[in-house]
Amino acid sequence: KQLSIIGVPMDLGQNRRGVDMGPSAIRYAGVIERLERLNYIIDDLGDIEISRPDRKELQANQRLKNLSEVADGNELLAKKVDEVIQAGNFPLVLGGDHSIAIGSLAGIAKHHKNLGVIWYDAHGDLNSADTSPSGNIHGMPLAVNIGIGHERLTNILGYSPKIKPENIVIIGARSLDHGEKELINELGIRVYSMHEIDRMGMAKVMSEVIESFKGKTDGVHLSLDLDGLDPNEAPGVGTPVIGGLSYRESHLAMEMLSESDIITSAEFVEVNPILDEKNKTASLAVGLMGSLFGEKLK
Ligand code: ARG
Ligand code: MN
Ligand code: MN
Ligand code: MN
Repeated sequence: KQLSIIGVPMDLGQNRRGVDMGPSAIRYAGVIERLERLNYIIDDLGDIEISRPDRKELQANQRLKNLSEVADGNELLAKKVDEVIQAGNFPLVLGGDHSIAIGSLAGIAKHHKNLGVIWYDAHGDLNSADTSPSGNIHGMPLAVNIGIGHERLTNILGYSPKIKPENIVIIGARSLDHGEKELINELGIRVYSMHEIDRMGMAKVMSEVIESFKGKTDGVHLSLDLDGLDPNEAPGVGTPVIGGLSYRESHLAMEMLSESDIITSAEFVEVNPILDEKNKTASLAVGLMGSLFGEKLK
């Protein structure tokens, strides 16, 4: 099987510089060698070109910071992901801040009627310009993908919505804004917060998630924000939240996904090497990819 790696050096969806170096940090941590060892053919497509705003214009629109650069970068990413899937390959997208899930899902969801999405994250990323406390677009991609948000973002590749609320599962949530909670209740989005994970255990959570997608979805995208893990495991992220998922819970989740064979595309986002400790977070991401792609069995 062929995996196509796409780097997205995007840092304009949030305020902390450095997350644009995430793809380099993950490559440096050995992603290609790690996955080649599992007998995948790896095609590294390099990085998407992200335009830099004028320094004076940086974050001009305070409610949707860097809107046009974020939209342009995601448009390019969407087209690239679309090409990868058309060629019959598995897209593995490396971030970059989480705003890139707008482009990756635009390219992926085109090929599915009922795409499932696993959003592994401390956050819901369900804000819009009206509910966002920050104006940072990395807090909005899941909302954009269900059709809520600025038209420049929701209409990438000319269609909207990309995914259905009932096909989404959020895992690891522990920092949801007021408007996000309202949307979750209104649309009935499934959330396994840290509370549920503590009570049920990750094994039960993942078997429920996998079971719920079987026979119902025609593909499942994994969108893994490294801040879903505890900051002790993943210090190199821009919006850390204490009390997160452990190293072992996360590997178990990836191994169960690997065994179930339901994942058809994936992205690993929010790795910021400037905030990291000796590339620990990028190495963690590569380890999780190893588990997702079958290290346990091969
Ligand atoms: N909810 C906060 C916001 O809207 C934080 C979002 C963090 N998102 C992320 N992808 N790390 O600004
Ligand atoms: Mn997050
Ligand atoms: Mn309200
Ligand atoms: Mn996120």
